[in-house]
Amino acid sequence: MKKAIALVLAMLFVLAGISALAESGKLTLATNVNFPPYEFYDDETGEPTGIDIEIAKAICDKIGYDLEVVDIDFGSIIPALVAGKYDFSAAGMTVTEERKQSVQFTDTYATGIQAVIVPADVEAADINALLEAKGGHMNIGVQESTTGDIYISDDFEAAGTAEVKRFKNGADAVLALTAGQVDCVVIDNEPAKAFVAKNEGLRLLDTAYTVEDYAMAFPKDSPVFEQFNAALGELMADGTLQAIVEKYIPAE
Ligand code: ARG
Repeated sequence: MKKAIALVLAMLFVLAGISALAESGKLTLATNVNFPPYEFYDDETGEPTGIDIEIAKAICDKIGYDLEVVDIDFGSIIPALVAGKYDFSAAGMTVTEERKQSVQFTDTYATGIQAVIVPADVEAADINALLEAKGGHMNIGVQESTTGDIYISDDFEAAGTAEVKRFKNGADAVLALTAGQVDCVVIDNEPAKAFVAKNEGLRLLDTAYTVEDYAMAFPKDSPVFEQFNAALGELMADGTLQAIVEKYIPAE
């Protein structure tokens, strides 16, 4: 009997959750906007746009929600989702086992790999050669709490071969590179390409890091996760997603 009452109560809470969302008719997306071409501020409108924003918008249109985009620090996204502050995140976010402890991920909709941005006159072929050229110690810029931060902290900082400078966003890290405050910046390849295209005197090195899967993140108790993920699957199947990606990343 107690169990039955508990069950009914639990169902009421779930229903209340769903209707609260449905009544507001809006899903709030938390992201960190300086990450082109996935999310960046449109030069003309000043509004956040990019691959993630457009995919999220297409899904929301399909399942009948308005979309609101909130720009916060990348490292605050998962704690904020866990605290129930926002409905989901689309942030070029890499699926990791550690993050899966806190949030649930949709199907993968893109991949990324860490790249190294250096001043164009650097001759080194990869990050290890760069380290050697710098005499065995260098300053590396990363975006705080990203996989680039995690890898570089593990592989270089822990070994005592680098000081890691952590920035709130990729653009700030690149600014520090052009100002000579760091020797390189490690960040996902598409933003890396975009930053190199926007700033003169920079070039890219490849890294040996593995390919990362991007997915959107939801609180574990999200009432819209299943519906959202199903819509994402349909947009992947009907080519909508590919069309959005190709708008920002022309096929080579
Ligand atoms: N893929 C990397 C990660 O998940 C970086 C993502 C940064 N995204 C952003 N919108 N700033 O850690």
